[in-house]
Amino acid sequence: MSESIQRETWATRIGFVLAAVGSAVGLGNIWRFPFQVGEEGGAAFLLVYLLFIVFIGLPAILVEFVVGRRTDRNPVGALKAIGGDSWKYLGGLFVLIGFVILSYYSVVAGWVLRYTVGSATGGYTEDPEAYFGTISTGLDAAVFHLIFMAIVVGIVALGIRRGIEIAVKLMVPAIVALLLALAVYAYTLPDVAGAYSYYLSPDFSVIAAEWQSILPAAAGQAFFTLSLGMGVMITYSSYMSEDRNLGEDAGAIIGLDTGIALLAGLVVFPILFAAGVDPASPGPGAVFVSLAAAFTDIPFGLVLGFLFFFAFALAAVSSAISLMEVVISYLIDEHGVDRVRGTIAVGAGMLLLGLPVTVDLTMVTLYDQLAAEVLLVLGALGLVVLVGWLKSEEAIDELSKGIGDLRSVGTVWIWLVRVPVLVVLVVSLALAVTSYVDFLRTEFLEFLGEL
Ligand code: PHE
Repeated sequence: MSESIQRETWATRIGFVLAAVGSAVGLGNIWRFPFQVGEEGGAAFLLVYLLFIVFIGLPAILVEFVVGRRTDRNPVGALKAIGGDSWKYLGGLFVLIGFVILSYYSVVAGWVLRYTVGSATGGYTEDPEAYFGTISTGLDAAVFHLIFMAIVVGIVALGIRRGIEIAVKLMVPAIVALLLALAVYAYTLPDVAGAYSYYLSPDFSVIAAEWQSILPAAAGQAFFTLSLGMGVMITYSSYMSEDRNLGEDAGAIIGLDTGIALLAGLVVFPILFAAGVDPASPGPGAVFVSLAAAFTDIPFGLVLGFLFFFAFALAAVSSAISLMEVVISYLIDEHGVDRVRGTIAVGAGMLLLGLPVTVDLTMVTLYDQLAAEVLLVLGALGLVVLVGWLKSEEAIDELSKGIGDLRSVGTVWIWLVRVPVLVVLVVSLALAVTSYVDFLRTEFLEFLGEL
């Protein structure tokens, strides 16, 4: 069936790179990253995370690129084409993960939309803490979850060239410009030195003492922020028409994503410090509460707040469309579903699955930990086995296209994938499952008891 449908392609090379950067840069950089850094011991976590980005993220993104470009298919079709019929279940897992992630991603992104509006109206200035409490759950949260999902459905329904590519060409440069301006501003805040040193000087004893929680958190964050482990990069590279240098594209995407996460830290930590918020116990709400408090106090704060949350919303939209596209490309390629109808139906399904998340912040943790630390790592593990161990010849061959003959580089890459990447994934997954079970048995049970 896939042959009979004329598949879309990106109009330009930069369109693909920006779409991938747009996917990578999102809530993961601005919301998830700072609170992971805070919870997992500051700069010590940052260091492990950066190592993972380079030694795990880079090889893993190339794995997804070669699979997508070689097969020109959605994840289910791609894995079936490469590994044979039984590997389509891994592709199915990817589609499912996309479904789960976007369902709660949209709730948090709804908060961001709400804060963009709140900056325009001054809504959060009275009592930033109470404001977050009101808007993050209940009907308020559900309404903005719906609005966000509708925006995503609208863009994805327009297709690759007319929807996603145009959207990211406008959004990605705007995000970078806005964050740069804000980082310069944050530098002028009191106690910026304290913030920088917390954020940038690692304490190695923390790594030794807490590696069991730092390791899976850093791996999960690396996969989450690079949109890996569930087929976004397979899907996006499947719309690539020519053979270009995948190494260059991967480098650009990872460099930009990491740069933007670090930049977001340079914005958020000085603001947290200036507002006197303890960076070590931030939780999913802290970025919102403390930033709103800070924007309330400083001159032109609401203008800055509006710009910040607007950039943040753009970043969330450009990631969400990639999550949606994984599911939609599967429905189009494998089942011949109409793009517009499929997108609306999938959006409605995700809307429902996200609704429980609007009940309480514990539900955010329930979805988020499962998705990032367990499911993405599991997905990546499956791909690493398939490509690294079973289909390495084809993988090296595909990587060489557009780069020239690179047996030696290709071999180094495959061995990175086969051993260190695999080992880190297995260990992280085991630790993540243990801590997730722990969470279910303690915090989550307590929460259920209170209902
Ligand atoms: N990378 C996105 C972010 O950082 C989230 C995401 C995860 C998108 C997985 C696609 C796949 O916000």
